[in-house]
Amino acid sequence: MKLWSGRFSRQTDKLTEDFNASIAFDSRLYHHDITGSIAHTRMLARQGIISVTERDLIIAGLEEIRQEIEQGKLEFSPAAEDIHMNIETFLIAKIGDVGKKLHTGRSRNDQVALDLRLYLRQEIEEIQDLLLKLEELLLELAAEHIETIMPGYTHLQKAQPVSLAHHLMAYFEMLRRDLERLQDTKKRLNYMPLGSGALAGTVFDLDRQYVSDQLGFSGITRNSLDAVSDRDFVLEFCACASIMMMHMSRLAEEIILWSTHEFSFVELDDAFATGSSIMPQKKNPDIAELIRGKTGRVYGDLITLLTIMKALPLAYNKDMQEDKEALFDAVDTVKKCLLVITPLLQTARFNRENMARGARGGFTNATDLADYLVRKGLPFRDAHEVVGKAVLYCIEKGSVLEELSREEYQRFSPVFEEDVYSAISITNSLASRQIAGGPAPIAVKAALQEARAWLRSQKKPG
Ligand code: ARG
Repeated sequence: MKLWSGRFSRQTDKLTEDFNASIAFDSRLYHHDITGSIAHTRMLARQGIISVTERDLIIAGLEEIRQEIEQGKLEFSPAAEDIHMNIETFLIAKIGDVGKKLHTGRSRNDQVALDLRLYLRQEIEEIQDLLLKLEELLLELAAEHIETIMPGYTHLQKAQPVSLAHHLMAYFEMLRRDLERLQDTKKRLNYMPLGSGALAGTVFDLDRQYVSDQLGFSGITRNSLDAVSDRDFVLEFCACASIMMMHMSRLAEEIILWSTHEFSFVELDDAFATGSSIMPQKKNPDIAELIRGKTGRVYGDLITLLTIMKALPLAYNKDMQEDKEALFDAVDTVKKCLLVITPLLQTARFNRENMARGARGGFTNATDLADYLVRKGLPFRDAHEVVGKAVLYCIEKGSVLEELSREEYQRFSPVFEEDVYSAISITNSLASRQIAGGPAPIAVKAALQEARAWLRSQKKPG
C-alpha cells in the first residue's frame, strides 16, 4: 500500500510507478536521509510532540535499517517511489504504527532539500581533500623543477622562456581558487531547511535550531518557499565543478601535447598510459584524454540543472527530482578525475633536455634583446623594430640570435656590445625575470614558500 493511498481509489499504473520512481538513483542518499530523520525524531520528542519511548523505538528502527541497507539485506522498491518513502515503509514494517509518527511536521520537499545539503556537504569535503593532495604534488614537482627551463607559449607559438616550476605553479593557483570556490559553496549551502514543510512551514512547534545544531549547520533557512524550491547550492557546486574540470582539462591537454613525439617534453609512466590494439608502437595518453573528455560531461550536468530550474514556478515541482543524477554524475566525475590525475602526474617523467632545447633557438630571447637595447638608451618601440629586423635576418640566414657576430649586430644598431650575448642567454633571460609573480628561480622560490604556508593553513588540524 502507498503511503499516500488515502485519496486514491484506483491503483497506480505500472508505467506511472516506474516513470515516477527515483529510488534507482536516490538510494545513495539513504545515510543522510536516516541521519536527518534521527535529528528530526529527537527534536519531536524534545518538543513533546512524540514520547520518549516512541523516540527510542523510531531511532533504534532507523539505525537497524541503516545497517541492514549497508549489509545489503533490504531491497528497495520502486513502488515506494524514492529513498524517503522506502525508508519510512521499512520503518513501519519494522516497528509498527509508531513508525507512522516519524513524518510529523515534515514533507518530502524539505526532507529532500535537507538530504541533498547533507550529501553535498560531505562530498565537497572529500573533493577538497583530493584537491589538496593534487596541490601538494604540484608544489613538490615545482620544487624539483625551479631550474628546468622550457619555452613559454602564446598562441601556441614559442614566446619567452619560463621554468617548468612556474608553469606547474600556474595550475596550483587555478586549483587554489577552485578550492576556495568550493569552500564558499559549502558556506552558502550549510543552512537547515526542515520546518519548511511542503512549502508553507508547519503548525507544529518544531525547534528548527535544535535540528540545525544536531546536524552541524550554521543556521536555519529563512524562507519556507525558498528552502524547498532552491537548488542554487546544487547549481553552484556544478559551476565550481565545471571550472575545476576546465582547469584539469587544460592540464590534461598539455600533457597530451607534451607527450607527442614532436614535443617530447614528458613521458607518461606505463601504468598511466595505454596501447593500441593494432599499432604496436603506440603509447597513448588515454587517461589525460578522458579527463579532457569528461569535462564536457560535467558542463552537461550544469546545463541540465540550469535548464531544469529555469522556468519552475514556486515552490517544489517534480521536475526537481531530475536534479540528482546530474549532481551525482558531476560529483563522481570530478572525484574520479582528481583521483587519477595526481598519480599520473606524480609518475610522469619530464625531459629537461628537450624542454631546454625547446627554449633555445626559437627566438624566445627576442624580447630580452629588445630590453637590452632599451637599457642602452633606445626607446622600446625602436628597439622592437631593430630586433624584428635582426630576427628576419636570422630566419633568412637560417641562424639564431645567439649566433650572430658582433659585426652583424652592429649593422642593426651601433649600441650593441659584447655584453649582448650574456643578456640574451636563456638562463639569464629566465633569471632576470625576478618580478613578483615572475618565472625567475628566486621569484618562484618565494611563490613556493607562500604556497606551502597556504597549503598548511588548509589542512585540517590533527
Ligand atoms: N523524490 C522526490 C525528489 O527527489 C522527493 C520529493 C518529492 N515530493 C513530492 N511532493 N512529490 O524530488
